[in-house]
Amino acid sequence: MAASGRLVVSLLLVAAMASSFSFSPSTAQSSSSSCASYTFSGNQLYGSCATLPRLGATLHYNYTAATNTVAVAFRAPQAGGGKGWVAWGLNPSGSGMVGTQAVVAFRHSNGSLVAYPTVLGSYAPSMAPAAAKDLPLPVSAVSAEESAKDKEVVVYATVALPAGKGSKFNHVWQQGSSVAGDVPAAHPTSGDNVLSVGSIDFSK
Ligand SMILES: *[C@@H]1O[C@H](CO)[C@@H](O)[C@H](O)[C@H]1NC(C)=O
Ligand SMILES: *[C@@H]1O[C@H](CO)[C@@H](O)[C@H](O)[C@H]1NC(C)=O
Repeated sequence: MAASGRLVVSLLLVAAMASSFSFSPSTAQSSSSSCASYTFSGNQLYGSCATLPRLGATLHYNYTAATNTVAVAFRAPQAGGGKGWVAWGLNPSGSGMVGTQAVVAFRHSNGSLVAYPTVLGSYAPSMAPAAAKDLPLPVSAVSAEESAKDKEVVVYATVALPAGKGSKFNHVWQQGSSVAGDVPAAHPTSGDNVLSVGSIDFSK
């Protein structure tokens, strides 16, 4: 009795696993915007990617332990019908928004898609471009592009990680639906927009 009961349970587990295995590849193929199968405009390759749990965002990354750097491509749905902004950042000294060094991207009134690093010093940050000397983590190769096909924005950056802190960091990501006077305006302060925080191990 007990043995056949266990067998039934095992078979159910196998069936559940089989169905989840057959489910995930078809999910991955159904969308060009899925994590590992995404093709970048310049065919850039990243060793890892993570589907972030809020706001439909994805982070692709290449971590180089020897130089303590990570090259990232952050993808997020266009906010505000293309009139909004998206941002991703690392918080090197705490968790959540305040203290985060972010890269933000939006459509400037002059027509260009702009991307630059900014420091989120408070819950009402200036969102102004940060001077290199004010960045706790040196960042280079910042750029952005819009994918009309996927209705999303891709932000690229290479971040020099703090030495001796390992490969696991707290990060946040965000989107807002409007930009006023070429300054990203506040994002919603409820729901997914305040839950878009987590930690990421760049070595994985
Ligand atoms: C990521 O690392 C791989 C392997 O070193 C390299 O081929 C690729 O060009 C890197 N991608 C980016 C975007 O730096
Ligand atoms: C628009 O303004 C941004 C920020 O000042 C600048 O980097 C970009 O080159 C400008 N684009 C055009 C087309 O003038």
